[in-house]
Amino acid sequence: MNESIRRDFPLLRNRKITYFDNACTTLKPQAVIDAVNGYNSEYSGCAHGRSPHRLSRDAEAAFEGARRKVAEFVGARANELLWTRNTTEGLNLVSRTIDFSKRQNVVTTVMEHHSALLPFQLLAKSGKIALDFVGADGAGRVSTKSFEEKISGKTRLVVVHHTTNTTGTTAPLQEITKIAHDNGALVLVDGAQGVPHKAVDFGRMGADFFAFSGHKMLGPTGIGCLVGRRAALEELAPFIVGGGTVTSVSLESCTFDKLPSRLEGGTQDLAGGIGLGAAADYLKKVGMHRVEEHEKKLAKALIEGLGSVEGVKIYGPLDWREKCAVVSFNVGKMDPREVALMLDHRGFAVRSGFFCAEPAMRHLGAPHGAVRASLYLYNTEDEIGAFLAELKKIARIA
Ligand code: ALA
Repeated sequence: MNESIRRDFPLLRNRKITYFDNACTTLKPQAVIDAVNGYNSEYSGCAHGRSPHRLSRDAEAAFEGARRKVAEFVGARANELLWTRNTTEGLNLVSRTIDFSKRQNVVTTVMEHHSALLPFQLLAKSGKIALDFVGADGAGRVSTKSFEEKISGKTRLVVVHHTTNTTGTTAPLQEITKIAHDNGALVLVDGAQGVPHKAVDFGRMGADFFAFSGHKMLGPTGIGCLVGRRAALEELAPFIVGGGTVTSVSLESCTFDKLPSRLEGGTQDLAGGIGLGAAADYLKKVGMHRVEEHEKKLAKALIEGLGSVEGVKIYGPLDWREKCAVVSFNVGKMDPREVALMLDHRGFAVRSGFFCAEPAMRHLGAPHGAVRASLYLYNTEDEIGAFLAELKKIARIA
C-alpha cells in the first residue's frame, strides 16, 4: 500500500487525524463520494419501473449495476443479493422470516456481536426457539469440534461470525457449514468484519445467508446486503411489506413479487447502493489479497509494538498470522474510555468499551471493556509507531 491510496481519501487530507476505528466504520474514497453525488446531482429518479421516464431508467441501471458488482465482489450472483440498511438489518431479517415451526434449535457462539446475538435472544425469550452457545478458547477462537458437539438433527440454524470485531479471528466457516448441512441445518454468517478485510467467496463458503454492511468497506452508511443461496432465500417469509414487494394487490390480499423485490420493501437507498458498488470497484482494483497482506503487516507491527508498552494486556491471539488488524487491549487498570479520550486528544481515533459485543469481551476477560485499534488499507506502520509512542506516555500515567 502506498501514498496514492491515502490520497484517494479526502478526509485524510482534510483532517489531522490517525484513524484507527475502522471496525466501527471506514473512511470513504473520492470514487464513492463521486458515485453518491452523481446519483444525487445527475439522475436522482426512482428505480424499478415505478416511473417510465429517463431519470428512473438511469437510476435503475446504476442501482442494479451496483447489485451485480457487489454480488460479484463476494462471490455471489446478483439475484442472491438483497439490499438492507446494514448487517444488523440482514441478521434481523433472517431471524424474523425463517420458519422455526419444524425445528426450533439455534446454535451460535459466545463471540458474536450484539446484532447477531440479540435477534435470537429475543426469539428465545418469547419461546419461539431454543438458543445454545458454542464456547471459545481464552483468545476467542471457536473450534470445529465444539460446533460438532452442539449441532444436531434438531438444529434449524447456526449463526456465526466470519471474523470477530473484538479479536479479528476468522471462524472455520467451510467446516462449520458442512457440519450444519450434514445435520439439515442452515447457516447465517455475520460478515460485517469479513468482507472489508478478506477476499470472500460466498459460493465456496457454502453458507446459506451472509450479512454485511457497506460503511465498513469504504461505502456509505445506511446500506448493507444480505446474500443468500437462492433456495434458502425462497424459504424466507415476507418481511417489510409495501411498495415494491408485490405484483398485484386487492383490499383483501396481494401477490408477492419474485426475489429480490419481495424482500426489499419501499424505495431503497439508491445513492447508498450505487456508492457501495463504487466501494466494491475500488477494493477490487486495489486487490483484496493486497489488503489482507497489508493488514497482516500492520497487525504484526501493532501486536509486537503493544507488547513493549508497560502494562498493556492484549485480548485475542498474540500471533498476527491468525488475525486481521483489529487489536483490543487495556492499559493496566486504566478506564478504557479514559485511554481512548487521551488518544483522541493526541490525534488518534480508537474505539473503547464493549464494541457491541459485551458477552464476548467478558469471555475474553475484559468485564469493563477495552480499547480497540482497528486498522485498514490506508493505515501505515509510521502511524503505528506514532501511536505506540503516545500510548507509552499514557501508560506511564497509569
Ligand atoms: N460497529 C461495531 C464495531 O465497532 C459493531 O465493531
